[in-house]
Amino acid sequence: MIPTVLVVDFGAQYAQLIARRVREAHVYSEIVQHTISADEVRAKAPAAIILSGGPKSVYEVPAPSLDPEIYSLGVPVLGICYGAQLMAQQLGGEVAHTGVGEYGRTELTQRGASVLMSEWPSTVACWMSHGDAIATAPEGFTVSASSPEAPVAVMEDVARRLFAVQFHPEVAHSERGQELLANFLHHVAGIAPTWTNTSIIEDQVAAIRAQVGTERVLCALSGGVDSAVAAALVTKAVGHQLTCVFVDTGLMRKNEGEQIEETFTRQFGVELIHVKAQDRFFEALAGVTDPEAKRKIIGELFIREFETVARDLGRGGDGPRFLVQGTLYPDVIESGSGHAANIKSHHNVGGLPEDLSFDLVEPLRGLFKDEVRQVGEELGLPTEIVWRQPFPGPGLGVRIVGEVTRERAEILRNADHVVVDEIKRAGLYRELWQSFAVLPAVRTVGVMGDGRTYAYPIIIRAVTSDDAMTADWARLPYDLIESIANRLIREVDGVNRVALDVTSKPPGTIEWE
Ligand code: XMP
Repeated sequence: MIPTVLVVDFGAQYAQLIARRVREAHVYSEIVQHTISADEVRAKAPAAIILSGGPKSVYEVPAPSLDPEIYSLGVPVLGICYGAQLMAQQLGGEVAHTGVGEYGRTELTQRGASVLMSEWPSTVACWMSHGDAIATAPEGFTVSASSPEAPVAVMEDVARRLFAVQFHPEVAHSERGQELLANFLHHVAGIAPTWTNTSIIEDQVAAIRAQVGTERVLCALSGGVDSAVAAALVTKAVGHQLTCVFVDTGLMRKNEGEQIEETFTRQFGVELIHVKAQDRFFEALAGVTDPEAKRKIIGELFIREFETVARDLGRGGDGPRFLVQGTLYPDVIESGSGHAANIKSHHNVGGLPEDLSFDLVEPLRGLFKDEVRQVGEELGLPTEIVWRQPFPGPGLGVRIVGEVTRERAEILRNADHVVVDEIKRAGLYRELWQSFAVLPAVRTVGVMGDGRTYAYPIIIRAVTSDDAMTADWARLPYDLIESIANRLIREVDGVNRVALDVTSKPPGTIEWE
């Protein structure tokens, strides 16, 4: 069994960052709700527990609490911020509602011997965000550090292996935060740093083999990183039982289909069914300009194409029983129940309806996006696939305003290639959340050589974002904008003007539709 750290969530997704930091220390972590009981914790047999921060005060009614029996299970516990105050309060200490908080960079001063901060300088910078503060540590604890407004900034009960820190070790602004977490995990809790990309791959390969046995497995490749890494894992586990399906809608990025073929057929030697459905998609989209109608057509046609392949494979009775899905850990957590919805996002292209009656193989459901990328690299997937920016299911279809035709898709595909190529050359591709070209439904007059032109403008859209819920337009260097614009006009037929989108989200969306 993999040694597991439970990160208890007290709200506002503070736990996600802690869980990721624990994994960066090469220890597996899982997020659980604060309503978990001591019996449930016992059943999970964790190697350590970390209590996260949260947006509430322990004085609020109701304030999120924790089954106090958890402190006496003998499992090492580290409380952070709200988690620290709750531990202090539940174990008989005192939390003061002072009204004087600390926010941001704060100096932490060591007061005595410390297991968590052994061999640290006497003062370090840490990051605080608290209104209340622990005034008195519970019996059995020693106070090992304080800050101007937090007399008990760090407290330790080495005998019971209970620890609490007022500051946030998980944020990068806390100078020695990661070191403190690693210290707690490796030295206090005695967990060896064995959760690595190699161990993830080995565990998943074993799990996939155990799940599918000798049955056949089907996987829809979208061109994105999640489906590619999931497929690569299944390939390593049971490659000869796997059939991949790539439906080319005519709305993919330049060379996407070739790259998938090259990687999965030639490099991995997997059976790949490349459905060239471009004609059917353009036919269905002819004359349609309403954004929602376009999405619906693309989504439904995709499902029909996929079903046709699945049905053909099933003729004769030994069709695939399992379907690979690239569900990630954040999707699982957000569903709240710990069990993601059966099939992810069925409104999307690439999302499949539930009545397809497959059993799901979800080898990434324990992983964060950055871990998926690392695993992809370790499995030998090309950099272009592993580091690809997110791409919407309906593809270029949501970046062509107005009617989607073969000609307009070709203009946009070529323009998109130029934008991405220049951004990559400038070394900005990984920094940006997304960067692409948009084709609007208007044409404008221009002059090229001796003649007037009447052609399309291209809009450059580049944004920074953490999660696509909000986004800011990227301040691209003028030189870069200039070289993108020059190349677009020179290299892409049908384009005579370039504009830059300087709208953040909100009020804009990232895509234009
Ligand atoms: P908007 O345009 O709403 O997009 O700001 C937010 C993020 O979602 C992506 N997006 C999609 N992803 N299927 C997807 O898998 C879709 O139908 C879809 N529509 C938008 C978009 O690229 C951006 O990252």
